[in-house]
Amino acid sequence: MSSQALLESFDDLEPETDDFLSEVLSGLQSTPKTLPCKFFYDEKGSKLFDSICDLPEYYPTRTETALLERIGDEVAECIGPHAQIVEYGCGSVKKIRPVVDALDRPVSYVAVDISKEHLLAAAGMLASDYPDLEVHAVCADFVQPFEVTPPAAYPEARRVGFFPGSTLGNFAPEAARTLLASAAKLLGSGGGMLIGIDLKKDVAILEAAYDDAAGVTAAFNMNLLDRINNELGADFDLDQFEHHVRYNAELGRVEMHLRSLRDQQVTVDGNVVEFREGETIHTENSHKFDIEQFQAMARDAGFEPQRVWTDEDKLFSVHFLTVP
Ligand code: AVI
Repeated sequence: MSSQALLESFDDLEPETDDFLSEVLSGLQSTPKTLPCKFFYDEKGSKLFDSICDLPEYYPTRTETALLERIGDEVAECIGPHAQIVEYGCGSVKKIRPVVDALDRPVSYVAVDISKEHLLAAAGMLASDYPDLEVHAVCADFVQPFEVTPPAAYPEARRVGFFPGSTLGNFAPEAARTLLASAAKLLGSGGGMLIGIDLKKDVAILEAAYDDAAGVTAAFNMNLLDRINNELGADFDLDQFEHHVRYNAELGRVEMHLRSLRDQQVTVDGNVVEFREGETIHTENSHKFDIEQFQAMARDAGFEPQRVWTDEDKLFSVHFLTVP
């Protein structure tokens, strides 16, 4: 049976209509130069990201996974029986498993992701492993509006969002608040949200997590230039750029950049882009939070914080929020 056949429903909002060329050009022609981090995740970039998650320096994934396993019973108590779980950016659909295992008779799981093939395969696999769970897949960019079908078996199920990995931190504060506010609307009054948020910590730990010794994060960042070369016929010389990471304490975020090693010109679809030696392209922000700071943002977006859990070293937090 195909993966799709195992799903209760599949809704394709055809999100991959971003104009890669125009967004790349507008980023490279602005001052300072930027490129959107959403373009990291082509096939090679997604594999590199999976490798990042296993790196010794990249504490978020393993810390959150261990935390979710540890707190399963308490999460189940917060969520209650017969829930419908909606995962924002489900990727390989791995992190939800310990949650589903701990929940009391969950009725439905809705996987939302931008990458269609990956989504169908991963959601299909979950459906085959959990035959009692109604699994729905929605191919969408979760920052755009999308709809969720109530579970056929239990239409009044409580709707609970699941947004792990501190992916919210990749959005600028105002965009993060807007995204949370639209989630609160979708989840509806009485709904809940289980969300993973990375915490502020020692700068050395943060910078190492984004600049690992094996160079995997550097390859992930540089892959963006390779992708622009391959898909847009640009002529970036990858040997003339380097991965650069810094923690911006004022804005509470780890920044990733690609730094030009010399004065140079690059051509992208006939447009010449000039670089000075040392000039950077800002490719990603990963915001880090204090617990109270995140809770204030969640309140501002229409949620009521209910519980927060952290690991022993206070590296990472998982929050349960409700919609009043
Ligand atoms: C997906 N996101 C939460 C990751 C992060 O930590 O900001 C992306 C990442 N970039 C470099 N390493 C990991």
